[in-house]
Amino acid sequence: MKIAVYPGSFDPVTDGHIDIIDRAAKMFDTVYVAVIVNPSKLPAFSIEDRVSMLREALKGRKKIIVESFDGLLVEYVDRVKATAIVRGLRAVSDFDYEFQMALTNRKLDPKVETIFMMTDYRYSYLSSSLVKEIARLGGKVGELVPRTVGKYLSKLKEREE
Ligand code: PNS
Repeated sequence: MKIAVYPGSFDPVTDGHIDIIDRAAKMFDTVYVAVIVNPSKLPAFSIEDRVSMLREALKGRKKIIVESFDGLLVEYVDRVKATAIVRGLRAVSDFDYEFQMALTNRKLDPKVETIFMMTDYRYSYLSSSLVKEIARLGGKVGELVPRTVGKYLSKLKEREE
């Protein structure tokens, strides 16, 4: 069994994330999509909402399991018996942060390998932060996030008005 973990904040999940998940599922028997607390970010959505958004968007995908975890990523990787962490890379600007995380995780647990997947060119500009900004300002996000995420973004706008 080849098991991978695709961790992130997913605040909210975007079409770019879904593309990486689908491509990772072609390489692994099981992909755990883990909503993990990023201590340096203040999320707009609760962990529960972020898990629900992912579960709704990924409904029917058999090799994919969505969970949340509060702790060290390598602990979660060990718990689900994964051998790889999958991360998406969009641009050179992602590199420093990703390089630091990959090396830190390998220092914490030398068994864990991080695999980087290049974003599809259609999503290279896309980020959860931009999606939230567009939604807050009343713009259209239909082509940026899964259809089911739309209602959560409308709630975000209402909540902040
Ligand atoms: O989508 P993000 O915010 O870039 O994901 C970052 C995340 C959640 C994967 C990262 O912050 C993380 O691994 N957090 C768990 C805490 C941890 O293990 N820190 C040490 C690894 S660098």
